Order: sequence, then structure tokens, then C-alpha cells
Amino acid sequence: MIDDAIAKKLDLKQISSTVETTFCIADLGCSVGPNTFTAMQNIIDVVQQKYESQDLATHMPEFQVFFNDHSSNDFNTLFSSLLPERPYFATGVPGSFYGWLFPESCLHFVHSSYALQWLSKVPEELLNKNSLAWNKGRVHYTSAPDEVVDAYTAQFAKDLTTFLDTRAKELVVGGLMVLIMSGVPNRIPRSSGPVEMMFDFLGLSLMDMAKEETAQPAELRCLLTEIMMASKPLLWVKNLKKMRKP
Ligand SMILES: C[S@@+](CC[C@H](N)C(=O)[O-])C[C@H]1O[C@@H](n2cnc3c(N)ncnc32)[C@H](O)[C@@H]1O
Repeated sequence: MIDDAIAKKLDLKQISSTVETTFCIADLGCSVGPNTFTAMQNIIDVVQQKYESQDLATHMPEFQVFFNDHSSNDFNTLFSSLLPERPYFATGVPGSFYGWLFPESCLHFVHSSYALQWLSKVPEELLNKNSLAWNKGRVHYTSAPDEVVDAYTAQFAKDLTTFLDTRAKELVVGGLMVLIMSGVPNRIPRSSGPVEMMFDFLGLSLMDMAKEETAQPAELRCLLTEIMMASKPLLWVKNLKKMRKP
């Protein structure tokens, strides 16, 4: 699917004035590898093929990959696992992808896989005893009242909007963004999704621990999870040319 998106949507002619000598790729929420290395190699292979197929081989750029994750990510493991013969320059970019990470119009390709389901924070209402969305006795929205689901959904919408607004500025016009996210099909009730069921069991086990006093309720509050499984397409490819205002 990524190959197809590059073949059909990456507009080399439009981005050629911004590429000059370096084609910049960012992997947001890269973790420590090895999946990120495979993904980056695949993207570079397909972009190179596209240059060749469009008789642009003489303009072949060098490639720079920005590996992004939280500053607490184990970047040492990531860097020490890089293959010496890789066809790109590697740079680590610590920080949340819900904020600015790059100067304006500096990226040609943004990739993120299985990271955007992490919200920027647990919705505040979940911790407020006076709120209808107070999520007492649960660590997630599975089996929770609608108010809890609504709080997760609102936080997800807010975070995704921030993410897209920021990336729209960081990407060059004509650049490409590929986002792969966990999700659940619309028709499946939220309590029946496998990940949701896992969180339900986890929550129940933690509550048992609290009853047995092997964990304190305060510790359980810290375990409220920041994961949201959207009921939208799993692979979402958007050409930034269309997102930007003229
Ligand atoms: C499930 S791992 C996916 C790793 C890799 N992309 C893959 O496909 O194997 C999710 C990663 O996203 C990172 N992550 C979550 N929220 C993030 C944020 N706001 N900013 C940067 N990285 C984030 C996590 O630290 C974690 O390393």
C-alpha cells in the first residue's frame, strides 16, 4: 500500500525544487527498531525506483531519515542497531509528535506506524470525581459509559487535529504522509475488539489487586491508558497538496 501511494501520489516534479540534494523522511513514533529500519528502507527503495522510472536518475537525491520518538525512547539501542551499509543519513529527533519537531517545509515524506493511537494525555474528565466521565474502576473505555468514550474521542480528535496542522507546515507542498493506525471496524461493538477486551481484563485484574491491597487505588489511577482505537480506516494516506490552503 505504501509502494502504491508513492507510485501514485508522490509528485517528484512538484517537490523537485525543494529536494535539491536531500530527500528528507521522518518516522514519527519509531521506537527502537527493527520495524522502522524496514519501513525506511522500503520507502527509499520505492522513491528511488520512481526517480528512475521518470528518467530522473541523474537527479537522484541523497536521503536523510529523522527517527522521532519521546525523549525517553531508547535511542541508543536504535542507533546501535542501524545497519552500517544503509542508504541514508540518520538523525534522532526527540519529542512528542503532538508538537513542532521540524522547521517549516523541510520534510518530503512523513511516516508513522502504530503510534497515533497513543493520545497526548489521559482525558482530564476521567480523573474528576464530579464528572460523568469519571472512569472509576477501569483503565480504559471498554465497558465504560458513553461519557468516557466521548472524552477519549474528543481527546483523539483534538490530538489528531494538532498532529495534522503541525505536519501540514513541516511537509513541503507535494510531499506525502502515510499514517498506519490501529482501529476497529465500525460494526464491532467496542467491548468486543480484541485490544479493548484485553484492557477490560487488565482493568479487572488491577482492581482485584487493589482489593487485595497489592496495589493502591492511586497507583491504578496512574494506569489509566492513553490508547484510543479509532473506528476509521487502518491505513490513511493523504496528499498534503490537497490539505494545504492555496
Ligand atoms: C507500538 S510502537 C510502534 C513502533 C514502530 N513505529 C513500529 O511500527 O513498530 C509506538 C511508538 O510510538 C511512540 N509514541 C507514542 N506517542 C508518541 C508521541 N506523542 N510522540 C512521539 N512518539 C510517540 C511510543 O513511544 C512508541 O515507541
